[in-house]
Amino acid sequence: MNKHKTYEHMKPDHVPEDLFIPGNIWGTWGGDPRVDFKKLLGGRDIVFMAEHYHAGHSDQGMWLVASAEGNRQVLLDAETFTSSGVKVFSRLLGGDLVFFPVETDPPLHGKYRNIIAPFFTPPSIAKLKDVITKRVDDMLDELLPKGRCDFTTEFGNLFPASIFLDIVGLPQDRKSEFLDWAHTAMSDPDAQKKRTAMQNIGDYLMEEVLSRRETPRNDLLSHIINSEVFGRPVTPEEATGCAVVLFLGGLDTVATHLSWVFRYLAENQEVQDLLRKEPKKIPEVNEEMFRFFSAVFLTRQALRDVEVAGAMIKKGDIVACCLPMANHDEQDLKDADVLDIDRSKKRHLAFGYGPHICVGMHLARLEMNIVLERWLARVHNIRIDGAYEPTSYVGNVMKLNSVPLTWSLIN
Ligand code: HEM
Repeated sequence: MNKHKTYEHMKPDHVPEDLFIPGNIWGTWGGDPRVDFKKLLGGRDIVFMAEHYHAGHSDQGMWLVASAEGNRQVLLDAETFTSSGVKVFSRLLGGDLVFFPVETDPPLHGKYRNIIAPFFTPPSIAKLKDVITKRVDDMLDELLPKGRCDFTTEFGNLFPASIFLDIVGLPQDRKSEFLDWAHTAMSDPDAQKKRTAMQNIGDYLMEEVLSRRETPRNDLLSHIINSEVFGRPVTPEEATGCAVVLFLGGLDTVATHLSWVFRYLAENQEVQDLLRKEPKKIPEVNEEMFRFFSAVFLTRQALRDVEVAGAMIKKGDIVACCLPMANHDEQDLKDADVLDIDRSKKRHLAFGYGPHICVGMHLARLEMNIVLERWLARVHNIRIDGAYEPTSYVGNVMKLNSVPLTWSLIN
């Protein structure tokens, strides 16, 4: 637990002593924060942490819901738990951007989501297979001859950024700059730096949106700005807000997940060998890995007093859904702490639940399937390079800071 100051005085009266944590979970951890969180929670399905992570709520404290059932209750009940109230993106960027669909509530949410949903259906996403495969192979052509890399910075972070730029129709040569902005925006502890990074992302995307309003192209950004919602054209503020959400939504999540998966493969040669021999198994093993390495935290605000996981939550309280713990809840799934590549029950909460369930999940699945397939077809004996003491950073997502890898080329 991170205990930066003395927080005891911050316990609101309605929070019972036994659910109060005088600190927070945000910040730097070791190589297995899921195990540390379990110890910290000590079997509790919900706790209240003295400090809220996101800028703007730092004095308020927040609930952390750990049980699968509690997470499903919060995420399904958008009437009680608002997404528009927390405004994670708006607080950072300010201004007039509308961060749809993620910061909107039903019924507006559905109308906004319908603008982009057709692009993310399984048949639409399947059409991207060749583009994604080529992108992975191009990256591997450059990377693999080096024989070693820090997977996180040299592949994991770069790959989803390339795919985002491809699908929205932005140039690849701005990738590094984009990535710097994105990682600062999502994970830098300095609120001012986060704001500046968000501003840069917003300004750049607004420029691109405006140019596509004038001259549409065959890409997602042109589709969004030239769509209609509520019987009128989508505004540049709405289109830019959505582009920011797609960018940040698809970037840190996939990058983070890739690092957990490749560390696991490097530490489990037999799984690597099996998937190399039987690539048909990759999609189902990936699904179990989405569950096991689930890394996203979601934030909501209660609009009324309500009971969750046995705790009384008051109107106005901030609630964080801890998907990493929900997906390791032994009350919900037998042997949830075991990564079982033959597991038959695939239900999990890694992509959320309810109206906001990840619109990009089919893209995320395809990306993961192709990355594993191409890496395993081209190298064997992927292993950790040298002495490795993994560390992680827990913010909006729970990410590994580095994964040093080496491998042998398949001729
Ligand atoms: C490992 C990969 C991914 C994970 C674990 C993940 C996880 C999630 C989760 C948990 C939510 C729910 C948010 C909420 O309830 O507030 C979500 C929503 C969303 N995700 Fe993903 N995501 C991933 C990849 C992607 C990709 C590749 C894209 C698209 C480029 C994407 C775009 C979105 C969008 C736009 C939303 C908002 C949906 C809505 O509010 O209706 N995600 N994601």
